[in-house]
Amino acid sequence: MKLCMIGTGYVGLVSGTCFADIGNQVICVDKDKNKIFKLNSGISPIYEPGLDELIKKNYSAKRLSFTTDIKSAVNSSDIIFICVGTPTKKRSINVDLSFVYKCTKEILKYTKKKKILVTKSTVPIGTGDQIEKILRIKKKLFTVISNPEFLREGEAIRDFRYPDRIVVGSNDKKIFNQMRKLYSPLINKGAKFFTTTRKGAELIKYASNAFLATKITFINELANLCEKSGINIEDISLGMGSDSRIGSRFLRAGPAYGGSCFPKDTKGLISAADKYKVNLSVVKSVIKSNHDRVNLLTYKIHKILGSNLKDKKISFLGVTFKPNTDDMRDSTSLKMIPYLSKKGAIINYYDPSGEKNEFRKIKNCSYKNNIKNNCNNSDLIILLTEWDEFKTIDFKKIVKNNKFKVYDLRNLYNPEEMKRNKIKYYSVGRPNTK
Ligand SMILES: NC(=O)c1ccc[n+]([C@@H]2O[C@H](COP(=O)([O-])OP(=O)(O)OC[C@H]3O[C@@H](n4cnc5c(N)ncnc54)[C@H](O)[C@@H]3O)[C@@H](O)[C@H]2O)c1
Repeated sequence: MKLCMIGTGYVGLVSGTCFADIGNQVICVDKDKNKIFKLNSGISPIYEPGLDELIKKNYSAKRLSFTTDIKSAVNSSDIIFICVGTPTKKRSINVDLSFVYKCTKEILKYTKKKKILVTKSTVPIGTGDQIEKILRIKKKLFTVISNPEFLREGEAIRDFRYPDRIVVGSNDKKIFNQMRKLYSPLINKGAKFFTTTRKGAELIKYASNAFLATKITFINELANLCEKSGINIEDISLGMGSDSRIGSRFLRAGPAYGGSCFPKDTKGLISAADKYKVNLSVVKSVIKSNHDRVNLLTYKIHKILGSNLKDKKISFLGVTFKPNTDDMRDSTSLKMIPYLSKKGAIINYYDPSGEKNEFRKIKNCSYKNNIKNNCNNSDLIILLTEWDEFKTIDFKKIVKNNKFKVYDLRNLYNPEEMKRNKIKYYSVGRPNTK
């Protein structure tokens, strides 16, 4: 099939490349000339394991191309996927749909024959109706449907190839067969194909993200209780997660949830519910609890290092919101590092995905290019993101200062081993680690 992805970010690029890999002809469009230039030069603008090779393979096979020319891309495609960002509006909880509506207007301008227009971006209930209104002067040419994306950064290719389910929402049932055909290579390997109304599909995406954010927040709050009561949160996660009704994933205590989806989608869901005068009190308290968690973690840093952080050397291992991605959106580090800098601490950080623009202007904050340079002078090492290369660090060997402490926000290390090595060690919700 001939497909066009509008927006070549984490979702558009990964799903476009994977659609090409299962035999479709795919054009990825972006308004960002730099991104398209890089892609046409064989460089992926994002860090995602396995993606570079897959882009090269499909680009060379001429199944995948990149352009800023939306007109020709729209003209030569049968199915158009909208994959642009849907961030939260500034100083509000409402979703900013301006990117979605802007590209819809461009699609309208260039469309001359029948198309299926798919929202893959996460959009609030009723967005498909709004898109139809924009397209009304050529309404016979468009069928507008919703096909939300569930891939996770860091595991995006696997998630695309082996999804738990594919959700397609349409008010025109005739379209389901075409979408089933598009996804047939994945369905044949076991993916569930779930059809519903357009609004139903829009809500499934928000509801799923809000539920996962709730799970994380729930276990984080229980970790607080475990810390006070001397119980091990890992036992609780295991004991609860073994119940198939609950499941073990997203049940590991750690920092506040972050990333490009959960923070914005929990807010987006509340804002959509507000429009229907429905109070989603559970989701509201999840957002508050997650916000409070960042404050709680900084309070703990004070408990470890004392109230005066002036000239204390603090090193971060990992600053992205999760491993195997370069995405910094809403990472806990974006709140912690500026706070610690304001308190006079001297901050180093190392992240396998490289230096971050977000910290270039932060006072006393420097990027170090490896674990050793990052940690060798530290008073406190904070493990924020559990990248594989952090799993086997011999802290005693690399840190010169023999009074250093480790604050492990992902429970990556073994407390007993830390004790044996005489390292002052703190983690999340585990006994004898405070
Ligand atoms: N990132 C994820 O893990 C993930 C997972 C599932 C769903 N989603 C959803 O998918 C959507 C996209 O997310 P993302 O992380 O890929 O965003 P992103 O910011 O990485 O990419 C969006 C891209 O769209 C481009 N763009 C914006 N307006 C355009 C226009 N008019 N024409 C052409 N290109 C345009 C931007 O330049 C950018 O490259 C969001 O709604 C998000 O909530 C994201």
